[in-house]
Amino acid sequence: MSIKTIKVAQSRLNEVDFNNLPFGKIFSDHMLVADYIDGAWQTPEIIPFGDISLSPSLSALHHAQAIFEGMKAFKNSSDEVIFFRMDDNYNRMNISAERMCMPAIPREIFVEGIKQLVALDKGWIPTGEGQALYLRPVMFSSDTAIGVKPSENYKLIIMTMPTGAYYLEPLKVWVETKYSRSAIGGTGYAKAAGNYGGAMYPSKLAAQHGYHQLLWTDSVNNEVIEESGSMNVMFMIDDVLVTPALHSSMLAGITRDSILRIARDWGTKVEEREITVTELIEKYKAGRVKEAFGVGTAANIAHIATIGHKELIMELPPISERTFANKMYEHLFAYKRGEKDDQFGWLTRI
Ligand code: COI
Repeated sequence: MSIKTIKVAQSRLNEVDFNNLPFGKIFSDHMLVADYIDGAWQTPEIIPFGDISLSPSLSALHHAQAIFEGMKAFKNSSDEVIFFRMDDNYNRMNISAERMCMPAIPREIFVEGIKQLVALDKGWIPTGEGQALYLRPVMFSSDTAIGVKPSENYKLIIMTMPTGAYYLEPLKVWVETKYSRSAIGGTGYAKAAGNYGGAMYPSKLAAQHGYHQLLWTDSVNNEVIEESGSMNVMFMIDDVLVTPALHSSMLAGITRDSILRIARDWGTKVEEREITVTELIEKYKAGRVKEAFGVGTAANIAHIATIGHKELIMELPPISERTFANKMYEHLFAYKRGEKDDQFGWLTRI
C-alpha cells in the first residue's frame, strides 16, 4: 500500500535540541490520518503534523470513545529503523477498540502506515542514551451528534515524537486507599483515554504531599496492588521477581511481558500473583523488599525509591544496589536498539 503523502514545506527538525527532549512536547514533521466513515476505513494519508478542526459536538469529547497506544522506534548504528513489538501494540489497540465499541483497525493501515510515516520522519529518531521515537496512535469517535451510543465515524491519527526519559528521578509513590484506577469488569485492561483522566485527581492529591505517582490497589478493599501511575509494577522480594497477576482491571503491559520473559530466560524466579499491601509492608519490615520499579513503554523501567502508606514511609535500598532492574534496563534498551540477538522475534526492521 502506497500512502498518499503531503510533505511539509519546511522541516522543523533543525529547531530541535536533541539533548533536551521533554516527553510529549516535540512532534515530528508528519502524522498519519485515517477516517472510518459509514462502516468502512478510508484510505489513510500522511500529512504535516498540525491542528485539526473539530466540531464542539464531537462525540468523543462528550462520551469518551477514545483509545490510544504507546510504542517506540529506534535507529541502530547501520541507520536501520527498528520497531519494538509493533504487532503487540497493534493487537492491543484492537483489544481496546473492541472494549470501547469501536471498529478494528486493519493491519495494513496501522503497521504499513507506521512504517511509511516513520521512514519519512527517520531523521527525528534520536539515538542518545535512553532516547527513542515515541509513537502515539490515537483513535476517537467523530460523529457530530450528541447521544450516548457508539459513533458511526472514527478518526485514527498516528503522531510521533522524539523523547528521552519520562521520569527524571527515582519515584516516590503513595499507596492509594480511597480511589481506584479501574474495577473488575471495567475498562482497565484497555488503553481507554478515560482511564487516564480518572486517575488524575487522586494523583494530584498525592502530588500535593510530594509523591510523583500512586500505587493503585483494587477497587473493593484497596488492598491488592495493581499498578503504579500509568505503569505496571514489579518488586524484587529476596531473589524473586514478583508482579501482580493480570486481570480485567489491569493493562497487559508489553514492557511488563518483555521483562518477565527475559527474566525467565535468565533463570530468575518469577511470580505473577496477588500481592497485597499487607504483604509488602511485612516483607519491607523484614528487609526483604530489595527493589521496586514501574515498567511501561514511555517510562521504560522507573525505579521506585520510596513507598508511602498512611504513617509508614518505606525507604527502599539505594538505586545503585538494584542489581536486577539496572541490569534489565541496560539489556532491554540494547535489545530494542538491535544490539542483542532478537531471540524472541520482537523487532521489525526497515
Ligand atoms: C506508555 O507508557 O506508553 C503510556 O501510554 C503511558 C503514559 C505515557 C500515558
